Amino acid sequence: MKKIVILFSGEGSNLENLIKTLHKKSVEVVMAITNNPDAKGIEKAKRYGVDTMILNHKQYTSREEFDTKLVKYIDSLNVDLAVLAGFMRILTPVFTDQIKAINIHPSLLPLFKGADALNRSFNSPMKVAGVSVHKVVSEVDGGEIVAQKCFDKSQMDFETFKESIHRCEHEIFPRAVIEVLNN
Ligand code: GRF
Repeated sequence: MKKIVILFSGEGSNLENLIKTLHKKSVEVVMAITNNPDAKGIEKAKRYGVDTMILNHKQYTSREEFDTKLVKYIDSLNVDLAVLAGFMRILTPVFTDQIKAINIHPSLLPLFKGADALNRSFNSPMKVAGVSVHKVVSEVDGGEIVAQKCFDKSQMDFETFKESIHRCEHEIFPRAVIEVLNN
């Protein structure tokens, strides 16, 4: 069975969905890693018997120093893929040159790269919105697109919009993980 590590920073709804859908069925989630000691996802992972390692970025003086530690730790896990599920850190080439990783982003890339994508997508004049899974490269949200799903947002309020984003994310992310692992 292929092995993955999941990186997250907050709520962890994608983390939970990935574990629920894939763990010990089609992949082994060997560990979850968070940069945020207060992340709600820690408890969620625990519920499914997945341990979380906390690597607090505030204890490192530079992004490179943090990434060096992260890479060293991920290397020691011997995983086939790192899956970024709401991991809110910009990664340097120290990470992106060494770790095979995919990320989920709440917009139809290449539109709305970077921070605050959810609000920018919602407030745009576009009729559709969506989510993307992409390979992680040094350009933020700039790697090859693996999967996308879109929906009509024209009649939606922000709450419904947010729910639709999460529903799409939960639908495409597990499938994208399997696809990347098999290619
Ligand atoms: C998701 O919308 C993801 O696209 C973005 O951060 C959010 C994380 O949500 N990068 P959750 O922690 O998985 O609930």
